[in-house]
Amino acid sequence: MAGFPVVRLRRLRYNPVLRSMVRETEIEVKDLIYPLFVTAGRDVKNPVPSMPGIYQLSIDNLLKEAEEVVGLGIPAVLLFGVPEPGEKDEVATPAYVPEGIVQQAVRALKKEFPGLLVITDVCLCEYTSHGHCGLVDGGVILNDPTLELLARTALSHVEAGADMVAPSDMMDGRVAAIRKKLDAHGFTETPILSYAAKYASAFYGPFREAAGSAPQFGDRRSYQMDPANGREALREVAQDLEEGADIIMVKPALSYLDVIRQVRNHFNCPLAAYNVSGEYAMIKAAALHGWISEREVVMEVLTSIKRAGADLIITYFAKDVAGWLKTC
Ligand code: PBG
Repeated sequence: MAGFPVVRLRRLRYNPVLRSMVRETEIEVKDLIYPLFVTAGRDVKNPVPSMPGIYQLSIDNLLKEAEEVVGLGIPAVLLFGVPEPGEKDEVATPAYVPEGIVQQAVRALKKEFPGLLVITDVCLCEYTSHGHCGLVDGGVILNDPTLELLARTALSHVEAGADMVAPSDMMDGRVAAIRKKLDAHGFTETPILSYAAKYASAFYGPFREAAGSAPQFGDRRSYQMDPANGREALREVAQDLEEGADIIMVKPALSYLDVIRQVRNHFNCPLAAYNVSGEYAMIKAAALHGWISEREVVMEVLTSIKRAGADLIITYFAKDVAGWLKTC
């Protein structure tokens, strides 16, 4: 094989048109999913201090936000509910009642914007008084008794009109439980986006402020994955696919690009990555100090996630990116 001077890799870099013709990875607005936090009340728009530009929104303001999202061409949103603190209990009742905040928000969104794909996060931590993603007994997070509540939550979202459900709790068997419940109620065609490889990560800190979902004791390491484990992620993904997951997610994204790549190499399913709250907060903080160029860093980061193998990216930057893609 010939080397330099016959081979010159810079030949394809001198001209911007040529550079764009040989570009391997492109971020498109259709890849983006925008997370939204919905809360009770009217005309509520509470800024999340650690996530500049992100708010807890009451349904009226959520609809305004959705209008902007649709106008920007973003195809999908991921909904999180923020119930009133007084509503929470040990069995996460506000997660699965028909008049729960997410159920109301889904109905309102689908009525106003039928073409917007509404995905709901299915978890109990925002709705339990103890802040854990499952039922608790004597300090232990119970697996099997939690499954029925997750399935009930997913069903109530779908009955409200959700297009897809995204379980993020990391209990074993939740995808099977949700699939069975949806099928039994005739929702055989509603897909499940599974948070399959979800790590016990400190990068969720700002989200827990946004969703009011910090655990009141202990941590989530008995159910979310150990950040040190890569091979185990493949077992999690295989398990969720066997149980009927349609789209697989790796979360967080940036410290786990190797996991995204491994999952992409091993499985042929669509793959999503969650560019989580702490990843957003770090970029925002540095940008607010003028230490980095926000737009360039965001595009570089999202490109790296896609290059690693993700098809879809859940990101708090979705609106910014959609706007930039329109103008460039
Ligand atoms: C709920 C849930 C979390 C996130 C998504 N769903 C937090 C957690 O597991 O503590 C994190 C999202 C983010 O950080 O942006 N279980």
